[in-house]
This record gives sequence, structure tokens and C-alpha cells, in this order.
Amino acid sequence: MAVGVFDSGLGGLTVFDAVARRLPQVPFVYLGDNANAPYGVRDADDIYQLTTRAVERLWDEGCDLVILACNTASAAALRRMQERWLPKDKRVLGVFVPLIESLTERHWGDNTPPREVSVKHVALFATPATVASRAFQRELAFRAIGVDVEAQPCGGLVDAIEDGDEILAEALTRSHVEALLRRMPRPDAAILGCTHYPLMEKAFRAALGPEVKVYSQPDLVAAALEDYLKRHPEFMGSGTEGRFLTTGEPKNVSAHATQFLRRGITFEAA
Ligand code: DGL
Repeated sequence: MAVGVFDSGLGGLTVFDAVARRLPQVPFVYLGDNANAPYGVRDADDIYQLTTRAVERLWDEGCDLVILACNTASAAALRRMQERWLPKDKRVLGVFVPLIESLTERHWGDNTPPREVSVKHVALFATPATVASRAFQRELAFRAIGVDVEAQPCGGLVDAIEDGDEILAEALTRSHVEALLRRMPRPDAAILGCTHYPLMEKAFRAALGPEVKVYSQPDLVAAALEDYLKRHPEFMGSGTEGRFLTTGEPKNVSAHATQFLRRGITFEAA
């Protein structure tokens, strides 16, 4: 019974941490496609090809259920994968929906028409590909009306995190927040819409100020996964061992993961 967690690189570890804490009995196999990160500057076809290849690698590890712990892949590839590619005995879940359900105060399976919600001005921080896809606004429109979304493509931030450059990552976070606040001076909520960004959550909060409620995905995704596995225990795969796999250079990737998560993590070659 193993579940796969996939990201283009290190960002999905923020989701991995939350799901592993919530479901300690489940072995998780993590796959970071560090050799091809960042995905956020690629086009949708490219992201689709890379993501399907990575998911197939996780099937080889006995993971019938894979969490795309990557907003960029969830935004650019997930719908196409679910509609045209996924076999019946496999499932792939994204990270967008739990976040939007929380923002719109909805529960899973609530299919009532969109309605007014308390949040009115939302700042979205995400990769250029996620922002370009408008997937967040599309999913939001199914559930809520009257919400103004201002999106900031955070160019360079994922590279700085992947390179382990905390000083540059902090400076970029500040400048992206400032750029957004010039266009939307008083957001009520901010979405960290890339799984790398919770690694910079302190810097986002400092730049946004205490009035802005920050939504970050890891705990929301963990709660959604627990609920999903209760309803669909058949998607616990046959794998028995948790592992950290990377398409990058395992020694480098382990060092950067250890630095950002402040605990030892050892990656193996995928
Ligand atoms: N961490 C990913 C996300 O949530 C992808 C970042 C990237 O590779 O650009 O969007």
C-alpha cells in the first residue's frame, strides 16, 4: 500500500511532509523531476509529457494513486491526463481543488451553484505556466462569484529554491509581493499557488503583512487525501516501501532538500 507524490523538484516535499505526518501508516514514494525543473516556464505539451512519464515511474513503484504535488502540472496537464490517458485502475489527484474548497468554504462533493463567499480580493502567487493557464480562476468560478483575483507570476523563485539560494529566494519573494500589492493594495487572502512557495512562507507573510490570510496547500491536501483514502481504500497500491527518487543528481538534491526542510533527506536516482 504505497502512494506516490510527484513534483518537478523539491516543492512537493512540503506536501509530502504534511501527508506523511497525517498518514504515518502509509508508505509514500516521492519523485522529484529535478533534472527538468522548473516546469513553470515550459509549455502545456511539454509539462504533459514530463508529468505522464513521471507518473508512470511511480506506477512501477506500486503506487496506483499519485498526488501531483505541483500546481503547474495540476493546472497544465491533469485534466488532459484524466480525460484521455489514465487507465481505470489508477488515479491521479491534483492540489488545486482542496485549496479552492477551503477558500470558498465548501466541502467535497458540494455541487451547488456558485455563490458569494466572504473572501473578495485574492492575491495568487504561482509559476508563469500556472498563471497563464487560468486554471485557478476557472475552478474558482465553478464555486464562487464576486471574487477578484490578481495573479503574480513569480519568475525565478523556483530556480532560486532549487539552487538552494535562500537570499535570492527571499529577495524575489519580496519583489513579487510588492509588484502584486501595487496592483491590488489590500487583498484579504493570498494563495501560495506553487508547492515550492511554502518553503518561503515566512518571507511571504512578512511582505504581505498581518492583515492578509495566507492559504498554503500542504495541510489542506493532506486532509483531502485522508478523506479520499477512506472512501477509496482500493487505490492504496501494492508498494510497501517509502523512498525519495530524483531524476537529478541525488547528492545535490539531498543537500538542498535537507537545507530547506531542516532535516536529513536522502534521495536515490529514479
Ligand atoms: N512546485 C511546482 C508548482 O507547484 C512547480 C514549480 C516549477 O517547476 O516551476 O507549481
